[in-house]
Amino acid sequence: MEKEKLVWTKKDLLGLEYLSREEIEHILYTAASFKEVTTRQIKKVPALRGKTVVNLFYEPSTRTRISFELAAKRLSADVINVAVESSSVRKGETLIDTGRNIEALKIDIIVVRHDCSGAPNILARSVKASVVNAGDGWHEHPTQALLDMFTLKTKLGRIEGLNVSIIGDIAHSRVARSNIWGLTKLGAKVTVCAPKMLIPEGIEKMGVRVTNDLDEAIVEADAINVLRMQLERDTSGVFPTKIDFFKQYGISEERLKKCKKDLVVMHPGPINSGVEMSSGVADGRNSVILEQVTNGIAVRMAVLYLVAHAKRS
Ligand code: CP
Repeated sequence: MEKEKLVWTKKDLLGLEYLSREEIEHILYTAASFKEVTTRQIKKVPALRGKTVVNLFYEPSTRTRISFELAAKRLSADVINVAVESSSVRKGETLIDTGRNIEALKIDIIVVRHDCSGAPNILARSVKASVVNAGDGWHEHPTQALLDMFTLKTKLGRIEGLNVSIIGDIAHSRVARSNIWGLTKLGAKVTVCAPKMLIPEGIEKMGVRVTNDLDEAIVEADAINVLRMQLERDTSGVFPTKIDFFKQYGISEERLKKCKKDLVVMHPGPINSGVEMSSGVADGRNSVILEQVTNGIAVRMAVLYLVAHAKRS
């Protein structure tokens, strides 16, 4: 990946909406150099020695939490994982109070996942520590989109001009929103595809093409990013049944025959196997799903490094 010269000034990473193209490219460039570190025999550098990172997750997570912990440890930071279930949050402590108390313990970076959209933004305004958004409600999941773009750039050599289709539960997806912000800023042509009830009103204003026809979305695509049906976020009961969804919108081996031979198939995980994608496709030759997970470490190392060393005004 080409070198990007930029002085990083942002203490927080709250969403790709708030970053310029140059800043996104700078994170991807920095991640490429950390990717090299993760292939060494001794996978550790002293870049964050003496710094402390707290993982504060109010929602379940496997990939993101482990990946942030590993990224911080690879940078030689001290890491604390707060088990929200057994913390004073259960006694009614607010996010801001929790954040201020964590900061009083001389923490440098708070990585937060929260079910409320905008929670990391509120926290970032309340503490001097850096805040990194690990997914907030339906709003953004910036490091997921960054690792998706890093994987795409590694596989296809570029983002500019690529046809990328995001398929599935767009309505409830923070991954979709962050990918749309990031991909469009980097010059990709983005299509979103889902049944009508899973497409949020006005999403075309984000610069994407919208279709309800899966074949139309995949035939010209260089890459597809298939999203999980977020059944836990459905309060209106509008979700199609799992069987209906797979028939019309599921990515199966049969469907892949209509696509470009070298189509890149992504999924942020966790997968509802047989709902949005067959297990054959998830494990098949086009899939880069596990590469996405691996790349998450280098991307999160880059993000932690940059916010920790931000030149603050
Ligand atoms: N992609 C993702 O955010 O996965 P987790 O919920 O397991 O962190």
